[in-house]
Amino acid sequence: MCGIFAYLNFCVPKKRKEILDKLIKGLQRLEYRGYDSAGIGVDGGNDIEKNEQSTILIKKRGKVINLQEEIQGREDLNFDLEFDSHLGIAHTRWATHGVPNNVNSHPQRSDSNNEFVVVHNGIITNYKDIKKFLVGKGFEFESDTDTEVIAKLVKYMYDTRENDSISFRELVEGTVQQLEGAFAVVFKSTKFPGQAVASRRGSPLLIGIASKSKLSTDHIPILYSKGCLSDYCRSHVKDFTSDAGAGKNEGGSTVTGNNQDALHNANSTSSFQPANGDGQVEYFFASDASAIIEHTNRVIFMEDDDVAAVTDGCLSLHRIRRSVDESSTRQVQTLQMEIQQIMRGNYSTFMQKEIFEQPESVVNTMRGRINFDDNKVHLGGLKQHINELKRCRRLIFIACGTSYHSAMATRQLMEELTELPVMVELASDFLDRKTPIFRDDVCFFISQSGETADTLMALRYCKGRGALTVGITNVVGSSISRETDCGVHINAGPEIGVASTKAYTSQFIALVMFGLMMCEDRISMQQRRADIIKGLKDLPDKIKEVLKLDEEVHSLAQELYQQKSVLIMGRGYNFATCLEGALKVKELTYMHSEGILAGELKHGPLALVDKAMPIIMIIMKDGTYTKCQNALQQVVARMGRPILLCEQGDTLSQKEAHRVMELPGIVDCLSGLLTVIPLQLLSFHIAVLKGCDVDCPRNLAKSVTVE
Ligand code: F6R
Repeated sequence: MCGIFAYLNFCVPKKRKEILDKLIKGLQRLEYRGYDSAGIGVDGGNDIEKNEQSTILIKKRGKVINLQEEIQGREDLNFDLEFDSHLGIAHTRWATHGVPNNVNSHPQRSDSNNEFVVVHNGIITNYKDIKKFLVGKGFEFESDTDTEVIAKLVKYMYDTRENDSISFRELVEGTVQQLEGAFAVVFKSTKFPGQAVASRRGSPLLIGIASKSKLSTDHIPILYSKGCLSDYCRSHVKDFTSDAGAGKNEGGSTVTGNNQDALHNANSTSSFQPANGDGQVEYFFASDASAIIEHTNRVIFMEDDDVAAVTDGCLSLHRIRRSVDESSTRQVQTLQMEIQQIMRGNYSTFMQKEIFEQPESVVNTMRGRINFDDNKVHLGGLKQHINELKRCRRLIFIACGTSYHSAMATRQLMEELTELPVMVELASDFLDRKTPIFRDDVCFFISQSGETADTLMALRYCKGRGALTVGITNVVGSSISRETDCGVHINAGPEIGVASTKAYTSQFIALVMFGLMMCEDRISMQQRRADIIKGLKDLPDKIKEVLKLDEEVHSLAQELYQQKSVLIMGRGYNFATCLEGALKVKELTYMHSEGILAGELKHGPLALVDKAMPIIMIIMKDGTYTKCQNALQQVVARMGRPILLCEQGDTLSQKEAHRVMELPGIVDCLSGLLTVIPLQLLSFHIAVLKGCDVDCPRNLAKSVTVE
């Protein structure tokens, strides 16, 4: 959902080529977030003394490779020109407002001189009002984007400033206060050379710091601004917003009067800088850590409404208002991520790599949490809330897409282990219905990225109603992991392929572990718990066995890839696999696919069955086995030619099948962890055979940070 990358080198001489290479590499790492178009903004000149400042924008429709080729072909660029200090900003886009083309790509600019340029991830919902206001002030717009208003508004603030010493940071503070919607933004300006200002609300943004010298502090204090600029802004732009809106901390108190400005004090302890030495430092701003991990593992996760500014190599963090319970510092954290985790290795695509990583990723999800000797389950992230969890009246799982399917996959087991009613909700629908939520509800927010806007909105809705909120996320430091009361990181490792695979199996396991923890004291449940824990222990080897079916799945893909549609049918523990398999086929191959509950067959879908329609049926030896046999018979009786996913040695089912894939047996409630894998592989192989872009399916992006 758009990727932002920015790189600032201070007193670290870099050739233009090196800077451009860094920007392109950063964008490539973020390309899974959007790949409609890409662009960069870099310095034209380098003589700050002579004030020879200009910004060059290079933007190109299509993938980052197109931008890279465009840059390489630019004969007017002196690639050897050296910059002691420089800010470059870059963006890869997933279009929301305006078709993908060069003009709509980011950076967006204030004017034809590129005085203020900005990269943005998110949606500005009041952009039409701002645009109307700015057009009234004589601004001419060139793009169809919502983002362009941001660049022009900051210039308007600058042009109408009452005080010549106004800082870049103050201008940006004033600008973002006027914005409604979601954003992460990084600004660059010819008026403030070598300075970067960034902010976020609702879209992720982190700051990476690389310095040879020791860092002066691990906790950066927040500086609270007087808010005088916001009054100034309001008086000028009151036409389009009823409230400073942005930055409002509902229910929070306002701290004013502490108008320290770290920017003008390079030695201030309120700003961040290398402790000693030559002051050399490099800063990175990025939508996620995968873009910066090869440069540094020291990061600050920005919070909503933070404004970060780098001036003279010093980083300072600011907010307009202070809420009662908010932290007054931001910690510099050390990322555990390894560079290999975000490399493709010998695989052709990230998706293929991530499918084949599952024997390890499931172990990482369980590591340190299950004691296979005494069958105890320990989820540290939930420890402090265990009593509330055990006392609750209802569990509600809220998620989107694949994450929703992981909740569907574990619902039956959760009901069995907790004896609580369990609701599974699509976040968007949950919000549309304004679902009643009570203080004794426990609401789970399941999200690989931890940034999905619908899920995040649902989280805020439930929090506002007093429910205990639990996050199940893969991205450490993500909005959902920070805003929930407690949670479990699934530790699947970075998932780069847009189609989710290993996160699904890890989410599934995280939820199973929660269920096991909830019934640890129940004597009647001990045998069941032991069977499930044994199943989890054996799981990595069984996944390895299933992955050996790859060749067979490839041959099935050859049979299916020219079809228009494929149905996937099952019930009980495997209904979620049908939904998830169908989603994978749809998103990767653009074929129609539908997951069908076998119990619903005779209520409509049977009409689709004939000898031409590809039908995959999942039949495992669980409580629904006999009913699945009935469905199989009904399909065969209509000349259907089922492709069977069944347990090894299930000769009864196999008699009727057109094709068979045998899977190892496992305790019933975990079989979905195995049955989903051939379907992940199938969608992958069909996509390759059809020439589709596996890691970047059309129209999609990894982290959907807009509603
Ligand atoms: C499908 C897929 C999406 C996501 C959905 C939620 O392969 O990846 O359906 O599952 O957009 O994303 P997260 O889990 O990041 O909240």
